[in-house]
Amino acid sequence: LAKAEVDMASIPEGKNVTIKWRGKPVFIRHRTADEIAEANGVSVAELRDPQADAERVKRPEWLVMLGVCTHLGCVPIGEAGDYGGWYCPCHGSHYDISGRIRKGPAPLNLEIPEYSFSEDKLIIG
Ligand code: FES
Repeated sequence: LAKAEVDMASIPEGKNVTIKWRGKPVFIRHRTADEIAEANGVSVAELRDPQADAERVKRPEWLVMLGVCTHLGCVPIGEAGDYGGWYCPCHGSHYDISGRIRKGPAPLNLEIPEYSFSEDKLIIG
């Protein structure tokens, strides 16, 4: 199946990019050191879908997720919500800077697709 390639140099630190892959949005965020620290500072045991940030990333500065709300499939908005990550306006789900569900009806964290790094490229799929 088709893979998508993204030139990592095209995404500055602190920015989000959304690409399409197999008909779905994929969110890519180049996280800052502060964001990485915030993601790691959360008490995993208190999360609805308990997952450490390190289980969700291959390189801490690159967060790659499907942009599909785990409630009913709307596309969340970036740099929004109460937890510094994404907000789904359909029914009010808040995701943090690791894409983990923190508040609202969504049951699970934003899903992580298959991806890899190859030199200066991020390859989804
Ligand atoms: Fe996102 Fe319902 S689809 S909160």
